Amino acid sequence: MSDLSATLPLGRLRSVWRFVRTARDNSIATYGPDAFDRDYIERQLLWRRILIVNAPDGVKHVLVDNADNYTKSDLARRLLEPGLGRGLLTSEGETWRHHRRAMTPAFRQIARYAPIVTDATEAILADWDRRTSDAPLEVTGEMMRLTLAIIARAMFSFDTEADVAAIDASVTAYQLGVRLGFLDLVGLPGWLPRPSARRANRALRGIDEVIGRLLQRRLPPSADPDDLLTILLAAHDAGELTPREVRDEVVTVFTAGHETTAQAVSWAWYLLARHPEAEAALHDELRSALSGRTPGFDDLASLPYTRMVIEEAMRLYPPAHTMSRQAIADDVVGGHAVPAGSTVLIVPWVLHRHRRWWDDPERFDPERFTAERSAGRPRFVYLPFGAGPRICIGASFAMMEAVLVLATVAQRYRLTLAPGQTVEPIGLITLRPRHGMTMQLKRRQ
Ligand code: HEM
Repeated sequence: MSDLSATLPLGRLRSVWRFVRTARDNSIATYGPDAFDRDYIERQLLWRRILIVNAPDGVKHVLVDNADNYTKSDLARRLLEPGLGRGLLTSEGETWRHHRRAMTPAFRQIARYAPIVTDATEAILADWDRRTSDAPLEVTGEMMRLTLAIIARAMFSFDTEADVAAIDASVTAYQLGVRLGFLDLVGLPGWLPRPSARRANRALRGIDEVIGRLLQRRLPPSADPDDLLTILLAAHDAGELTPREVRDEVVTVFTAGHETTAQAVSWAWYLLARHPEAEAALHDELRSALSGRTPGFDDLASLPYTRMVIEEAMRLYPPAHTMSRQAIADDVVGGHAVPAGSTVLIVPWVLHRHRRWWDDPERFDPERFTAERSAGRPRFVYLPFGAGPRICIGASFAMMEAVLVLATVAQRYRLTLAPGQTVEPIGLITLRPRHGMTMQLKRRQ
């Protein structure tokens, strides 16, 4: 620090320090009201040059048209790599292309996963039915328990509660323990040791043990060739993936594939609890489409409002609130120079509430996603799953899962915010409620 103070005015250092402190605690708090009106925002944080892109053409340029010029940023890698290694989220180039191609079949034909989703949801509802107390429950944790059980069974054929619990504990410890530090945010070199890497490794020991056991397991000849576990183990047996690469992909899909969906559904519960008219519209649809039965994959087409509730919840509270990239070579985006090495941020938290693209952006209004009202809205202002070659591989799976979970639970329980509960979104790796989301559950039938 003393070197820095010698070359930089103290006032500037102080303001960088304040910015970094805010970003570490809650990255979305760094966007003031004017961010929601502007197309581009430039920031200089000591050595780090940042361009925030809020214009749809600029977003398309970075994520799609010139995607080859942008890697995941060092910030994203520093948050994710200590735990996830070089899985699909963090790898680049030929390794990423090869793994993405190999894993894609597991994310097609998602109809076969629908019974896993509804069985796991019924199991959690049975737990709720057995409760003898009507004390409020922390709903994000409940949704996380559910989506973790779903991903474990759908993608990896895990069925033991103990394995799921070990992974759950590790992933939560990881999210809470690993945050960007001052060194990361101001762009100091990566070889400087970071305490967060040690915390990450400790947090993920539980996952590594479970995956170690998994790799010992032989595949039954009847295994579904498109099951993700089958794909990864077969590639391992053929010498195409090292044990470390298999481990990284399993941890990546576990981590990327459960918390985001749990947050999306939790924010939907929160919004429904605060908007009785939307809750009533949801129930009209559920009654006429399902009459109380558990939905299946074929019912999705008759649940458009349920889907719009999830879409609108992800607009207001995008679980993946920020995508960060780093320019390989000099570029120009929307007239703004982007020298090689710059950080480029695409921030669904801002884009989804941008005053130029959305009518009354703070209002919860699921019907803005009807075909008529979506017509004419630029494609690149709504990006809950990203866009371009790095678009979420699990997007269709996640939508199917979120709609079926919401429809199944809403038919059985009404969720209202517990008295005194304040809900404040904070941007960590995902967008989470700072104090959780404690809700009262009331059985409907
Ligand atoms: C509502 C739920 C979800 C949300 C909001 C979400 C969001 C995202 C976003 C925004 C990206 C792109 C990140 C970037 O461009 O930097 C992404 C990538 C990814 N997601 Fe999801 N996701 C969700 C569910 C899932 C599920 C269910 C899975 C797996 C079962 C999954 C696995 C992945 C993986 C592996 C990547 C990296 C893809 C690549 O780079 O090739 N996600 N997700």
